[in-house]
Amino acid sequence: MSSIHIIAARSLNNVIGRGSDIPWKVKGERKLFKEITMGGTLIMGRVTFESIGRPLKGRSTIIVTRKKEFQHDGCQVAHSIDEALLLAKQIGKTIFVVGGGELYRQCLPLADRVHLTTINTEVEGDIYFPDFPSKNFELIQEKTYKSNIDYCYQIYRRSNGVPCLSEP
Ligand SMILES: NC(=O)c1ccc[n+]([C@@H]2O[C@H](COP(=O)([O-])OP(=O)(O)OC[C@H]3O[C@@H](n4cnc5c(N)ncnc54)[C@H](OP(=O)(O)O)[C@@H]3O)[C@@H](O)[C@H]2O)c1
Repeated sequence: MSSIHIIAARSLNNVIGRGSDIPWKVKGERKLFKEITMGGTLIMGRVTFESIGRPLKGRSTIIVTRKKEFQHDGCQVAHSIDEALLLAKQIGKTIFVVGGGELYRQCLPLADRVHLTTINTEVEGDIYFPDFPSKNFELIQEKTYKSNIDYCYQIYRRSNGVPCLSEP
């Protein structure tokens, strides 16, 4: 069965978005997103898709929306999370849930892995990543990058209740 990966970047105060935008510009961080997701299937909420505006090269795109008429060239559309996951499993590539806030909230309980980049700054915003990590995930990899704003990329794996390394 295809595993479900979540990939997100958040600020130190847990912001992931302001309106429809991401409220930082960090050199290298988008390149890392591209490297990780290349060749996979991206599941995203309609708001996130519209802020990107196009399917991303080298990846399949599934847009989740309740709008029955919504469509976009080069993308598949699903009207529920279950439908999106079924479509993604049929495609058969690694599944990445790439945002935004609504999708993260609904998909975190289903995720096998979480790729989380923490941007070393506090920003104002109105869209947040859900409370994380929880006791259901363990940290398996961590790398810090120097940039115009430093950032730390971590991979967490679902661990069936084994306490996460970063928890006391
Ligand atoms: N920092 C990051 O890593 C990152 C990544 C991605 C996005 N973002 C940011 O996150 C923000 C967008 O997040 P958001 O929470 O506002 O929106 P979102 O999660 O991108 O999309 C929400 C939309 O998805 C659809 N949807 C959600 N759950 C659904 C369900 N169960 N069944 C059917 N459709 C469903 C609905 O679309 P309809 O209204 O069309 O029905 C809903 O309005 C932006 O600021 C964006 O820049 C940040």
